[in-house]
Amino acid sequence: MKSVRQSPLEPDFVQSPYEFYESLRRHGDLVYWEDYQIACAVSWRAVNYFLRDRRWGREVPDGQDREYGSHLEPFMHLERNSMLELDRPRHTRLRGLVSRAFTSRSIAALKPDIEIITDEILGGLGEGEIELQKSLGERLPVLVITRLLGIGEDIADQLLSWSHDMVTMYQARRNHATELRAANAAREFTAFIRAEIEQRRRKPGDDLISRLIAAEEDGSRLTEDEMISTCILLLNAGHEATAYTLGNGIKTIVESELAVNRVFDPDNVNNVVEEVLRFDPPLHKFERYAKEDVSAFGHDFRRGEMVAVLLAAANRDPELLANPQVFDPMRKPVANVSFGAGIHFCVGAPLARMELAVALPAVFRKYPGLTFAATPRYANRYHFHGFDRLVMLTDGRA
Ligand code: HEM
Repeated sequence: MKSVRQSPLEPDFVQSPYEFYESLRRHGDLVYWEDYQIACAVSWRAVNYFLRDRRWGREVPDGQDREYGSHLEPFMHLERNSMLELDRPRHTRLRGLVSRAFTSRSIAALKPDIEIITDEILGGLGEGEIELQKSLGERLPVLVITRLLGIGEDIADQLLSWSHDMVTMYQARRNHATELRAANAAREFTAFIRAEIEQRRRKPGDDLISRLIAAEEDGSRLTEDEMISTCILLLNAGHEATAYTLGNGIKTIVESELAVNRVFDPDNVNNVVEEVLRFDPPLHKFERYAKEDVSAFGHDFRRGEMVAVLLAAANRDPELLANPQVFDPMRKPVANVSFGAGIHFCVGAPLARMELAVALPAVFRKYPGLTFAATPRYANRYHFHGFDRLVMLTDGRA
């Protein structure tokens, strides 16, 4: 396996990791990324294989925990009960119970709310120079997920702050100070959710937390720890990635200089959303462990060895589509792995797609002449890929 070096903190890489991914694919399905000391799947077929094959999973075999200091215990306690970190059979049980509460009906019912929130946010923005990442990109998904869980919207800023502190644990810029902040956020967030669950036990409502409490399958229910982890996972996953995708989508569409009335023809909206997700996804790298000794793509992996799957590289594999480096929202939609694949495929994909399908056209309906006020700069927090701020001019094409 070819070894390569690339700092995930290097500014040019952060702005566009795609050239690096393309260079990796020339070495085959797998490369060894020295900076992370990890084998990476870079082709469409390899990424799909590691995500879908039962010999690979999220848990380290033999119950060995990953090494971490005791200062991280509040964070790790949440992880140990999070479906994202679990394999069969516990994952199946948790996901089944969550799916009973997170129904397609409850998601579809959110559409009018998504439209109203989008209109309210856009209605509050004037003309001239506007900022779209914080105002719309972050705000819309966090308000939607608080409504779904039945949590007061006044807590939205606090949720964003806890969530941002916690997700630094998955980023290359992680250090001792960010770990302490993540653990503290996990502790406070846990206490907050515990109190919310307690309230719903006394007085159930028509919200996801109440439905999680009620959910039962084959006599099994979520334990209190599982419920807390699930709520926090839904709240964090429910806005971080959608927020970045909204910003990335706006940037990509403006940059393409395509006629926005054609791009957002009502019959084409779902294609735009898929192409935005394929072309510039918000999450690039996830890990899996070998559950047994296994050979794949010419390499022998030992039980417990880790691989990373580079989702954003797979989405641009020429084996998947022609001209993968071109953003073409008019092309026939092609599959992408931005929501993952296999048993951990994103639970929130239908909700995220709906938010994108409402908000992206709404932005360009209101501002058909949108251009950049300043070159957008992706925030330095690989493997997350998105903006802190997106400053635009509303009439730049006039
Ligand atoms: C554009 C937005 C989103 C993207 C790109 C995204 C991406 C992903 C990916 C790649 C995974 C799989 C990770 C892995 O295999 O290790 C995942 C899992 C998950 N996502 Fe999302 N997500 C998005 C939005 C959401 C939303 C809105 C929610 C909830 C409301 C959500 C909840 C979850 C949950 C609970 C899981 C864990 C599923 C499991 O382990 O079975 N996500 N997401």
